[in-house]
Amino acid sequence: MSQSTIQLKGINQSFFLGKSQQKDVLHDIDLKINPEDFILIVGGNGTGKSTLQQIISGSLQPTSGQILKDDKVVTKESVQKRAEWIGRVFQDPKEGTAGRLTIAENLALAAKRGQKRHLTKANTKEKDFVRLLKTLDLGLEQRLTTDVNFLSGGQRQALTLLMATLVKPELLLLDEHTAALDPKTSEMVLAITDKIIKENRLTALMITHNLTDALKYGNRLVMLQSGRITLDLDRNEKEKMTVTDLMAQFNEPVVV
Ligand SMILES: Nc1ncnc2c1ncn2[C@@H]1O[C@H](COP(=O)(O)OP(=O)(O)OP(=O)(O)O)[C@@H](O)[C@H]1O
Ligand SMILES: [Mg+2]
Repeated sequence: MSQSTIQLKGINQSFFLGKSQQKDVLHDIDLKINPEDFILIVGGNGTGKSTLQQIISGSLQPTSGQILKDDKVVTKESVQKRAEWIGRVFQDPKEGTAGRLTIAENLALAAKRGQKRHLTKANTKEKDFVRLLKTLDLGLEQRLTTDVNFLSGGQRQALTLLMATLVKPELLLLDEHTAALDPKTSEMVLAITDKIIKENRLTALMITHNLTDALKYGNRLVMLQSGRITLDLDRNEKEKMTVTDLMAQFNEPVVV
């Protein structure tokens, strides 16, 4: 099934609205996410990147503005309903998997959860899990009955990615999903991420603080600063950018 166009229109987010400690975090965000876009999101700490993903996933209601999936307004759709078409991977490898269940049990849960998505039929047989795990090239296909608690952070994030995409989501949200991994493992998980996105022709939104990765992956790069989109580069513009150029676009200090 082809992917939808997701549009954010005039999204504003304020916390503690009307109170003395009111915090205006996002300002008039307009963003059109085209089918099969792989958008990298960069920006300093506290600029609203995770808040934006929370709004897209439905775990946070925006103060104002709309979210459209093709022509349908989904702003009020619950987080559970949106989980039927949105896959998510977080920074903490423990968040996306059940540690006391085996690899096979985790994959079976992901397949079951995905049945609601009705987008593609999930493969739930052991041989399907073996075939899927083999694509990671981490030898996990020989450890189907191992509890996920015994996996390393990198192996666990790779498994989480498989689970989030086992049934093709219409949108994949990645919030610094390699930030807790060592550089080599991070590189490996990013390569797997890229492969899964390309092979399944997914639409994805990935937050990272690593500017080299932000330039290396995806077809678009969006910079968020103080809750506003200050840069939205297409593939050509992105290819011409260097890390130094990108650094210069930051108003705030950034750690590479
Ligand atoms: N539930 C909340 N209640 C109050 N303030 C919040 C809440 N969630 C986020 N904020 C504030 O909103 C701002 C943006 O936070 P957000 O987590 O979106 O930043 P970020 O760009 O993801 O930062 P980082 O790169 O550090 O992850 C921060 O100042 C944060 O303290
Ligand atoms: Mg964040």
